[in-house]
Amino acid sequence: MTTELTLDDLRRQYRRDYDPYNPVPIAEHLAEMADRREKLPISYSTRGNGCWVLTRYDDISSVLRRSNRGFISFPNDPDGINTQGSEEGMVPIEIDGPRHKQFRALLDPHFAPKKVALLEDGLRDWANRLIDDWIEDGTCDFVDGFALPFPGVTVLTIMGWPLDDLHTMNAWVSTLLHGVVGGTQDETNAARGKAHGEIRQYMLDLIAARRSAPHRDDVTSAALDAEIDDKKLTDLELFDMFLLMMLAGLDTVQSVLAQSMVYLAQHPEQWDAMFATPDSLEPAIEELLRWAAPAVPTRTVVHDSVDVAGITLTKGERVHFPLAVANRDPQYYPQPDEVNFDREAKPHLAFGLGPHRCVGLHLARLELKIAFTELRRRMPKFELVSGVEPHEHLGLAWGVENVHLTFPAGTRETEGSGR
Ligand code: HEM
Repeated sequence: MTTELTLDDLRRQYRRDYDPYNPVPIAEHLAEMADRREKLPISYSTRGNGCWVLTRYDDISSVLRRSNRGFISFPNDPDGINTQGSEEGMVPIEIDGPRHKQFRALLDPHFAPKKVALLEDGLRDWANRLIDDWIEDGTCDFVDGFALPFPGVTVLTIMGWPLDDLHTMNAWVSTLLHGVVGGTQDETNAARGKAHGEIRQYMLDLIAARRSAPHRDDVTSAALDAEIDDKKLTDLELFDMFLLMMLAGLDTVQSVLAQSMVYLAQHPEQWDAMFATPDSLEPAIEELLRWAAPAVPTRTVVHDSVDVAGITLTKGERVHFPLAVANRDPQYYPQPDEVNFDREAKPHLAFGLGPHRCVGLHLARLELKIAFTELRRRMPKFELVSGVEPHEHLGLAWGVENVHLTFPAGTRETEGSGR
């Protein structure tokens, strides 16, 4: 039993530092995590404010299930630093307990399967408009030309925001998420500050306009009308929630789409297998979600003591776990690094588990289905442009940039996205 050890003893005994921003390819990082899983399935890293790193599916799912029962999600950051610098975290991802429940009650109905199914035709049309921006060229910057704007359109649609602002919004979000690609840290910080200021002003103006406009059946109206703890949300709370919607809805779908297309460019037989029968696509999407899971949750212990991965952690300790690592646990996924559309596997954890399980999961699945179907129809064969290397990154959502594709040019079907 390790329970008699002091916290300092445990931290020393289980010490193995962890860099959530490690500038290495995702596969290399996952190999290090596989080694950790074997040798030290729970480990302590001194980086930032210190955190425990989990690697086993069972330990990760057990912590996720214990939200509000020993763990809270604030601050949801591996370094333990609240990015907002405020007492309260991002809404709803860093809010817990009854207050979080109220936010989910407000959001969930708008993201229910039947509700998101109504968006299908509009989103399919937009997927084709985006494809038409580059289909005649025989080459595209896939992230810039599809993987980022397509989820952007989706978030704007479900929120009820003007679609004309798609490209402005995407430019802001791209700067917030990825900084100035190829620029210095100072340039990135300056650009992020400017983008944050502009998006804040944009949303505050939008909130003011929507407060005086008639109620509509969208998430924005629902949030404006909602009472949380018997009080309407302030403009800043609304801004906070809307920004999270934008970031959570964009970066994740973008990541899965871009990682998948890089993989599929290198494995054209799998691209064919995804469409082999009408029933092939859905399991293939689930397997790509398992394999490409971008999210990296962190939880904080709030009970006096909790058991995690065989040791006892005390109040204030934090645990961090990339969901891709749970999804690569060989206990449940033989040859976990291989993409295998025929797996009869345990459900993956790409959307998380427990009270914070992704609000947008039905929408995300619909987006991926539309995206892959339309890309297949318009671009049945494609490759990576030779000599242009995709660039993978870890961070608060794992992903890949600089994905340039080449394919036999096609013909336009619409007037494009208005770029
Ligand atoms: C492939 C796409 C997506 C993936 C892999 C994904 C993954 C996740 C995960 C793992 C969480 C839980 C994080 C935690 O427990 O700390 C989460 C939460 C969330 N996601 Fe997603 N997500 C995706 C798409 C979306 C979309 C399309 C939207 C909305 C437009 C969205 C909105 C949210 C929100 C609002 C939360 C916070 C939920 C809460 O705290 O109760 N996500 N997502």
